[in-house]
Amino acid sequence: MAVLGQGYVGLPLALAAVDAGLSVTGVEVDPRRHEALLRGQSYLDDVPSERLVAALATGRYRPVDDCVHLSDIDVAVITVPTPLTRDDQPDLGQVLACLDALVPHLRPGVVVVLESTTYPGTTDELVAPMLAERTGLVVGRDLHIGFSPERIDPGNPTFTLGNTPKLVSGVTAACRSAVDEFYRSIGVLTVPVSGTREAEFAKLLENTFRLVNIALVNEVAEYAHRRGLDIWESVRAAGTKPFGFMQFVPGPGVGGHCIPIDPRYLSWESQRSVGLELGLVEHALGVNRRRPEVVVQVAVDELARRGLVPPDAHVLLVGLAYKKNVGDLRESPSLRVHALLTDAGARVTVVDPVIAAPAHGDVRVLRGIAEVELGDVDLAILVTDHDDIDYAALVAAGVPVVDTRNRLTGTSVVTI
Ligand SMILES: NC(=O)c1ccc[n+]([C@@H]2O[C@H](COP(=O)([O-])OP(=O)(O)OC[C@H]3O[C@@H](n4cnc5c(N)ncnc54)[C@H](O)[C@@H]3O)[C@@H](O)[C@H]2O)c1
Repeated sequence: MAVLGQGYVGLPLALAAVDAGLSVTGVEVDPRRHEALLRGQSYLDDVPSERLVAALATGRYRPVDDCVHLSDIDVAVITVPTPLTRDDQPDLGQVLACLDALVPHLRPGVVVVLESTTYPGTTDELVAPMLAERTGLVVGRDLHIGFSPERIDPGNPTFTLGNTPKLVSGVTAACRSAVDEFYRSIGVLTVPVSGTREAEFAKLLENTFRLVNIALVNEVAEYAHRRGLDIWESVRAAGTKPFGFMQFVPGPGVGGHCIPIDPRYLSWESQRSVGLELGLVEHALGVNRRRPEVVVQVAVDELARRGLVPPDAHVLLVGLAYKKNVGDLRESPSLRVHALLTDAGARVTVVDPVIAAPAHGDVRVLRGIAEVELGDVDLAILVTDHDDIDYAALVAAGVPVVDTRNRLTGTSVVTI
């Protein structure tokens, strides 16, 4: 089989298939990632390098940098990014590039599965007609095409590919059976869905549900801060209700490749296909996008209480990644907090022990609190609460902290 894209979604899938006894070609066009795969060096927090080395040692895992190296595939799974364009529209360019590259390798009996998150209609209105036309194969008879959204949660040790039910769907009933059979053959617990649009919609619904609930708690957190109410205590208190409430906690905004992006696929498609504006979804996107500004305003207020303005201040930003214990910077609200502070003239130092690179663009990143001259810091903002941070040293130094994660306690800590 072939897995196109060896990222957060594709690499764990490829390794699971190797574990199940399949021969897998992992196609990865990023040269640094491809070379790392060949060396057996993992670039994902959830995949230990030993696991990669073991897969290479079986002789059944072959990393390649281009689909031209594929031969005799029975199954091809596409797991490439589906981002937004500059004007906030779905960008399926990388999926289309994969389809293009797959065409020469499609012959009767092959199963093609799209795992990349996308809007309803992509698989049956775009992918299937394109492959049918380019190959001359009949979908549902010669060629089986389906959609199976990934639910992987980077950094979550409890739920993995092996124990999270996976939706499977096909353009025809025969396609769905073929897709279902493939995933079951590698030990995945499958949940068949009637059509590809229903599966595409279900994935967007899952992430839109999270987005809207996070936005709700972030919006009322701003109210709570201004009113002098402890949002965290009230969320915990409401969470004691055994039905009808689900706890979501506030934060500095949302990041990663899913929550800030997927709901926009849904609202774009709704507007495009039936002219319906999904106002709640758009508002939720806006609330979360604005959240870094709220964090920075609280920080500026805290500086002002100490007689400082940003151009005179040295601010320590703790955590640059979007999520705890994960080195992923995509859409990270911390980057926006950094930009806002820098634009306001503040001197900003960043600590993040998890992200791999020592610098991100112009942002230099220190590995730990021990590298910071804490006596020189006017205010710290805890944006991402990685476990591997010496919080005790921060608090013991008496540095005022704006805590967006409710991780710290003490008289010098303002939790928002
Ligand atoms: N990260 C998550 O938690 C998550 C969860 C569920 C679904 N998804 C969805 O899965 C898809 C992939 O996300 P990801 O986080 O794995 O992205 P990623 O960026 O980690 O990995 C995708 C990889 O695909 C490679 N690629 C791009 N074009 C290629 C091509 N033509 N051929 C081969 N490789 C190519 C990229 O270089 C990259 O390494 C997205 O649609 C995303 O929304 C992600």
